[in-house]
Amino acid sequence: MIIDPLALEALKNFKKPEQLGFGGNMAPAMVSSYYKDGQWSELKLETYGPISLDPAAKVLHYAQEIFEGLKAYKNDRGELYLFRPGMNAKRFNFSAKRLGMPTFSEEDFLKSVQKLAFLSEHVIDTKPGSSFYLRPFMIGDEPQLGVKPSSTYRYYLIGAPSGNYFARDAIRVYVEDKYHRAALRGTGNAKTGGNYSASLASYIETKNRGYDQTLWLESVEDKYIEELSGMNFFAVINDVFVTPPLTGSILEGITRDSLIALGKHLGYAVEERKIELKELMKQVESGECSEAFACGTASVLVPIESLYYRENEVQFKVIGGPKTMTLKKELLKIQMGVTDDVFNWRVPIKNLN
Ligand code: COI
Repeated sequence: MIIDPLALEALKNFKKPEQLGFGGNMAPAMVSSYYKDGQWSELKLETYGPISLDPAAKVLHYAQEIFEGLKAYKNDRGELYLFRPGMNAKRFNFSAKRLGMPTFSEEDFLKSVQKLAFLSEHVIDTKPGSSFYLRPFMIGDEPQLGVKPSSTYRYYLIGAPSGNYFARDAIRVYVEDKYHRAALRGTGNAKTGGNYSASLASYIETKNRGYDQTLWLESVEDKYIEELSGMNFFAVINDVFVTPPLTGSILEGITRDSLIALGKHLGYAVEERKIELKELMKQVESGECSEAFACGTASVLVPIESLYYRENEVQFKVIGGPKTMTLKKELLKIQMGVTDDVFNWRVPIKNLN
């Protein structure tokens, strides 16, 4: 990796922010690589700053963009870990193919996250819920307005010491009834900015009505739950953890996958099956559905307090119920390196060249 000494200097002088929100205190260095003539250039650690794009760059018009989100954790013993970064590297290339972009070497992806996390060690808080959030992304930057894949690309990795994604301990959920987030065989399972911008009009409605996050129904029957705008969905129904199956229009969350395995390991019943919203709302009222939560890399696991759909609202009797909180605690213990890593999910962070 090419290292700009100014980037090292900037990182050395980077102080732990007083307020740890999510994704706002960017580290003053980033990693980049450029794609041209079928080749990616050597990774470069450089100082963080605005990037210059031609106004005709494909990404600005046709949203040829993909990204990932992963976290580096530090524990009280000063040990640093990444959580299943290989899954992010693989999903990055899955997304790249879906958007007609070139793949990126998994080795370079992992090298870049290791390097930036290692050099940012001093700003990572050891409190549970704190981490260094890493955001790799790729854009098509060819200045040409034809609707076809870019011939040139850029890979960047930026990062930020982060705390909780939500300011609240539990979230109120608004179920969108006018729009859909993703269509079957669309791009819903690719991690591309377009899926997130498709949620933003609803974000405004959700916030205006006093809710925290939008929940989306599938676009075929408009009945079954898919996911939240930036997280996967779980409910506890008759003591079983239930989450919607991966139909192709849902993001294949790494936290979702981990919670399915962890839940089973802890002796819980876990099912991937369709969840009909209206039935679920009745089950919340009757108490058959006792808990629900959102999960993702950024949010980890956040209890759901209430669900609103077409003038109806149901409230969970217990917010942050025992099953939700057990799963969260056990996941964080693995992520922070507090318990044995029975799944081999932790990857120690080392200083790579
Ligand atoms: C993540 O969880 O890392 C995401 O990319 C989703 C978004 C809420 C930031």
